[in-house]
Order: sequence, then C-alpha cells, then structure tokens
Amino acid sequence: MERALDWDDGAVVAVDQTALPAELRFLRLTTVDQVVDAIRRLVVRGAPVVGITGALGVALSARHHADPGGRVDEDAVRRDAQRIADSRPTAVNLRWAVDRVLTRLPDGPDAVLVEALAVLTDDEQANRTAARRAADVLRSECPDRPLRVLTHCNTGTLATMGGGTALGAVRALARDGRLEEVIATETRPLLQGARLTVWELQQDGLPHRLCVDSAAPAAMAAGLVDAVVVGADRIAANGDTANKIGTYALACAAAHNRIPFVVVAPHSTVDPATPGGAGIPIEERDAAEVVRLAGTDTTVPGTRAFNPAFDVTPAELITAIVTEQGVWRPSAR
Ligand code: MRU
Repeated sequence: MERALDWDDGAVVAVDQTALPAELRFLRLTTVDQVVDAIRRLVVRGAPVVGITGALGVALSARHHADPGGRVDEDAVRRDAQRIADSRPTAVNLRWAVDRVLTRLPDGPDAVLVEALAVLTDDEQANRTAARRAADVLRSECPDRPLRVLTHCNTGTLATMGGGTALGAVRALARDGRLEEVIATETRPLLQGARLTVWELQQDGLPHRLCVDSAAPAAMAAGLVDAVVVGADRIAANGDTANKIGTYALACAAAHNRIPFVVVAPHSTVDPATPGGAGIPIEERDAAEVVRLAGTDTTVPGTRAFNPAFDVTPAELITAIVTEQGVWRPSAR
C-alpha cells in the first residue's frame, strides 16, 4: 500500500484503520459529514493524515457549495471547515491544513482542491526528509551496531504520507542495515501499536515484538532498548510535545535509563502560537473505549473512565525533535 489516503474522482479514498489488521478495506468519503465522522471515529488517524483528510474535506465542501460559474459560497464552506477543524482538537496539523486550503477559497473549488493535494504531496516530502534525518540522529546517539528501537502508537504509512515519521526512521534504519528489532507497544485503549504498527512491520518483513504498554519501562531497564522514537500531534514553541497517551511515561522511563528519546514529525506539527505544553488542548474520548474491548465489558458495567487520547512530554525529557527543517534539541538549553 503506497498511500493510506488519496483523492479519486470527487471522493476522499481512505484505508479504514478501524478494520485492520483483519481487513484492508478502502472507504470513499464524498460528504463533509462523512469526513468528520471518519476523523472522529479514527477511521483516518495520525496527525498528518488527519490534516490531509481535513484539507480534502474542505475541498469537498467547496465543490458542493460552488455555483455553475465556479463561485463559492464562502460562508457555507467556512462553517464546514470549522466543523472539520473541531473534530479532533489536539493534532495541530488539522487546523493548519484547513486554514491553508481556506486561503484559496476566492479562487474557486478547483484551486482549493489543488491546495489540498499540495498539502498531501508536501507531507510526503517532509516525512521522507524528516525520517532520513531522524535515522541519522538515532545512529549518532546510539552504539554503532544494529539498533533495538521502541516505538509507540502508529506513525507509519497509515498515519502519514511518505512512509511515516518515527516508523519512517525505523524503515530508514532498516535500509541502512542498522535495525535489529522494533519493540512496538500495544497502545491502549485503541491498540494502534498492536493493530497497525505490527501490521506495517509485518508487511515490510521487519523484525519486531509486541509488548503491553506497561512492559515498556521494564524492557528499557532490562537493556533491550537502544532508543525510543515516537511521533507527535502538537509541538509547542518550547518543545513540549503532545503525542499518544503513554508517551510521557515512556519519556520518563527513557530518561531514567539514559536512553535517547527522539520525536519525529513534519514541521506542520509545530505550533509556535502555543508557548508550552499547558496550552495544548487534550482530547478526552468516550469511556466506552476503556471499559469495553472488542464489544465486551472489561470492568464492572457503569464504571466511569479517565480517557485522554494524548499526553504532553516536557521538552527536558526529549533528546531531539526532528523535522524536515532540521534537528532541535529542546533539552540542551
Ligand atoms: O489518536 P491517534 O491514533 O490519531 O494518535 C496518533 C498519534 O498519537 C501519533 O503518534 C501522532 O499522530 C503522530 S502520527 C505520525
């Protein structure tokens, strides 16, 4: 699979990430309602792919709200754009991509679509560059031998264009002949690691093991991990980084065990308007994701849950943040 998301003849075509690994199924989204629903339900997920989906959703809206002469009802499209941008609050790529394509509204629906497709191809190039650079950072931070890398959530072809961010760096290490093993965390509660990262690693034939989230610090303490590499949903101006819930605990364990902790993301994930982690909105999701698994109760019926989708890793725990624009070491102040 080259792309998890694309545009085809008036529709957004997306891999249904809720169906993996059992089934590789593609959906065609043709309305803004379908786009918003797909983003909310994590049919499409991963900050860059969420952003591109949002951009293409605005393109759909512009087509629907254009008259035969190509004039767009801008107010109607801006209302749709707001709904799309609000559908997941933490990943800044979504707001960034929606705002970027809205600038082309006065030029008509075709111009909006051209801009949305440019968001997609730019992401492809950005991630290829960032991943290559991150692999070099990992090699310089670690012993000169094939590496054992721990990663969290899914940051691969399903989550981005261009082969992934953190998982793109893992792929680059493999191409260099410098990958011994990937340890993938399950990533409770929605199992993006177990369902999606393991699926990608298996498709690529890369050596890997799966561990429950709570085993990751033990793997580090046991000397099984040379580096931790993760993606990001929003990087504040001071380097504090929001990513999938559980990332902060991994960063604490990595720091305690003196293991490099590297964040890889396209520059569209950096949010200069948010000074620090305290200003990052954290999406809280339905309790059902925690109290049920595969349709079955895992606890006493009626139990309330704390279910933040993301947490914030303070900049001082991060060895390097790698984007297509360069390497930033926010802890080296
Ligand atoms: O809730 P998700 O699955 O969209 O969360 C995804 C993550 O946290 C990823 O690590 C992040 O978006 C980076 S994807 C390159």
